[in-house]
Amino acid sequence: MNEAVIASRTPFGVEVEEGKSYWWCRCGRSAKQPFCDGSHKDTSFTPLEYRAEKSGKVWFCGCKRTGKQPLCDGTHKHLG
Ligand code: FES
Ligand code: FES
Repeated sequence: MNEAVIASRTPFGVEVEEGKSYWWCRCGRSAKQPFCDGSHKDTSFTPLEYRAEKSGKVWFCGCKRTGKQPLCDGTHKHLG
């Protein structure tokens, strides 16, 4: 249970609101991607907080392999 599940091979575009916190699912097991729904319970993962600095669309990583958590950095293109 040490490897994150690939929830999606493409990122999730989400309209975020300035000043609001969002909890990104790091384990890939959540049914409410890209956000945590508590499914990490029996794993070593915890969600990662993302606090929006401004309102607008943000691309959250769905593959959970990004180097810029919680945002997509294009790593999903090289998953094979
Ligand atoms: Fe994945 Fe919480 S469900 S981190
Ligand atoms: Fe994970 Fe793009 S969806 S790096």
